Amino acid sequence: MDRIEWVIANCRLLAAIGAELERTRPFAGLTIGTGIHLEPKTVALLLTLRRGGADLVSTGNLNTTQADAVAYLRERGVRVVGGPTADPAEHAANLREVAAARPQLLLDNGGDLFARYLEEPWDGLLGGTEETTSGRMRLEPLRDRLGLPLLVINDSPIKQFAENEHAVGQSVLESFLRLTNKSTDGKRVTVFGYGACGRGVAANFRNAYAIVSVVDADPVKRLQALLDGFLVPDRADALRTADVVITVTGGRDVVTADDEPLLKDGAVLANAGHFPFELDAAGLEAGGRVTVLESGHMVNLAGPRPLGNSIESMDLGFALQTRCLEAVATGAVGAEACVVPVPRAIDEQVAAAFVATA
Ligand SMILES: NC(=O)c1ccc[n+]([C@@H]2O[C@H](COP(=O)([O-])OP(=O)(O)OC[C@H]3O[C@@H](n4cnc5c(N)ncnc54)[C@H](O)[C@@H]3O)[C@@H](O)[C@H]2O)c1
Repeated sequence: MDRIEWVIANCRLLAAIGAELERTRPFAGLTIGTGIHLEPKTVALLLTLRRGGADLVSTGNLNTTQADAVAYLRERGVRVVGGPTADPAEHAANLREVAAARPQLLLDNGGDLFARYLEEPWDGLLGGTEETTSGRMRLEPLRDRLGLPLLVINDSPIKQFAENEHAVGQSVLESFLRLTNKSTDGKRVTVFGYGACGRGVAANFRNAYAIVSVVDADPVKRLQALLDGFLVPDRADALRTADVVITVTGGRDVVTADDEPLLKDGAVLANAGHFPFELDAAGLEAGGRVTVLESGHMVNLAGPRPLGNSIESMDLGFALQTRCLEAVATGAVGAEACVVPVPRAIDEQVAAAFVATA
């Protein structure tokens, strides 16, 4: 079976929701502007929204768009703006084109589309969703100016444990193995960030026989890592001993050229946080001693044949996306729900539906 068809067939929640939305048509007459990684799982999401009556105008994120996903959507009449690009100027132009369609709903990933809306607002925007932690951090200070229902998928407990913890950890490990063809057995791995994603990354590398150290700016998270059985050396020691360094914090300049002298010859660095600026890839690689995978772009979504997170985890996350957009479209949530987590009733509905299929 074609890979995209395989993914669509295995998004069982989305399939069931899509069948329901074909009857209820919550998005009839509405345009949804989307700015999210274009890969097979998002294809399943976008086609589900269309089953609910939406017109779509879609672009990807920087350096994660897959050409076959774009082609598949275009063949089915979805308006996709741009294609794979690592050029910030081209990406910004794509976002402007999505905004120019004056969508009534936005499905954002990293806050790009809502930030664009605030630069040049248009009439008729009802609200929308934001997928990530990074986007929430960017949009929270803008809450007063936004004044729209804007539900943050990342802040659902389901997204936290199903995707960030379980799935990101698995896919970062899978990507490391595939991109480097190196073993993890007995290797020293240092993980920066012990949020939901970092917990999963640390656990998966430990399960793959690595000796894992954790560095987190927050002492409470360091304590949690210690009690979970990880090493928590100081930052310099954690860099000095590492064969592999993985950043997954959402922060900027987590490991930079200033740290390069500390690193072992041949150390491999990778970023799994949303933005590549966690690692100063050019500065770190300038001396020719260490390697930064995929120039610091999200290691599980960049590079050749990236799989991203597991289908099941994304089916859950995208079921939350669909239900949240439905709630905004139908007025079930109002402007007081601006940059807030997924409503509890939606979490319960999606969780119950998944458990029923298990
Ligand atoms: N690769 C993927 O598929 C994927 C999926 C989901 C989320 N993400 C991204 O991963 C990142 C982390 O997400 P999360 O949900 O775990 O976030 P989180 O906020 O739960 O955890 C981040 C942790 O990093 C720590 N931290 C921040 N700056 C630091 C620094 N300079 N040094 C050390 N520790 C630092 C914080 O104290 C916190 O404990 C975000 O950018 C998010 O958008 C990636």
